[in-house]
Amino acid sequence: MSGQSFRAIQWRSGTITLLDQTQLPNREAYVEARTVEDVAQAIERLVVRGAPAIGITAAYGMVLAAEQSEDLEAADRRLRRTRPTAVNLFWALDRMARVWRVGGSAAELADEATRIDEEDAASCRRIGELGAEIIPDGARILTHCNAGALATSELGTALAVIRVAHARGKRIQVFADETRPVLQGARLTMWELMKDGIDVTLVPDVAVAHLLYEEQIDCAIVGADRVAKNGDVANKIGTRGVACLMCAHEKPFYVAAPWSTFDPSLEDGRAVEIEERNPEEVRQIRGVAIAPEGARVRNPAFDVTPARWVSDLVTDRGRTGADLAAGLARLMGPEFSERTPPPRSVAH
Ligand code: MRU
Repeated sequence: MSGQSFRAIQWRSGTITLLDQTQLPNREAYVEARTVEDVAQAIERLVVRGAPAIGITAAYGMVLAAEQSEDLEAADRRLRRTRPTAVNLFWALDRMARVWRVGGSAAELADEATRIDEEDAASCRRIGELGAEIIPDGARILTHCNAGALATSELGTALAVIRVAHARGKRIQVFADETRPVLQGARLTMWELMKDGIDVTLVPDVAVAHLLYEEQIDCAIVGADRVAKNGDVANKIGTRGVACLMCAHEKPFYVAAPWSTFDPSLEDGRAVEIEERNPEEVRQIRGVAIAPEGARVRNPAFDVTPARWVSDLVTDRGRTGADLAAGLARLMGPEFSERTPPPRSVAH
């Protein structure tokens, strides 16, 4: 259905083969991770990135550790230290820990990692189907960062919605913003959607407000790294700005994420740890200096969008509707509603 001709992560016993996302779009190169340290560094360097993809990769990393009779506590600790924001990493490692802590074998761990991978693929398909319903024929859709097949097991989240809408014959036009500083939009979303033959136009991040002023954008859809109980969304830096602009222009701003991105332990987005990355990512573009050497830099990799700016959250369990907190409680079921009701989103 998707036309997707690549996989970001491939597993066979002893090796995780990763499509090296640092090389895209110039080179379609694969790297092989054979040790936990290889896996940890691949996640840190963004060889593999995107919330579900790093969870899946870390899960396979634990299988490598078990196959090599490594200290599983140490492997788990190393992988948890790689990137702090996407909850999928911790969610996947928690699932793996439930197997190895009770003495599960390497084969049992491989089964669990494969289940995490396959369940993510199913979630992406479901998100695509549910999300495509809210995309009108002829829609001009903005997306930020890369929430595509590169960031998941397959299809993506925000890009699954776009792919399924396209496959259903809806005439859609996509705008991908560059997503400074690491350019996931320019390098990765453009690469994926062009490969699929979907109508996509690259725009500088700073052009979004102007395109809205020109009435060129009908809605925006992005992925997520962590969704709090009240519906606040942590996602790639710049998402908050896009959401704010959509709100100011009275256009819908949608988020698409699998249930594994929901973190019911957080009341709201303020408690999300925001990764601060290497200043060189801002001082340089792919090795070429764009600021004076030694320029002081801030490089937060994520931001938090308040639930009240999100028009709908599409998950594999269903859509929340505009009241994200209530929708999340409903989708979570009795386990959630037995607890204190989540507070309404607060301004921050
Ligand atoms: O730093 P990255 O590239 O890992 O950030 C990725 C994002 O913010 C994505 O939007 C998010 O993980 C959702 S991917 C389906």
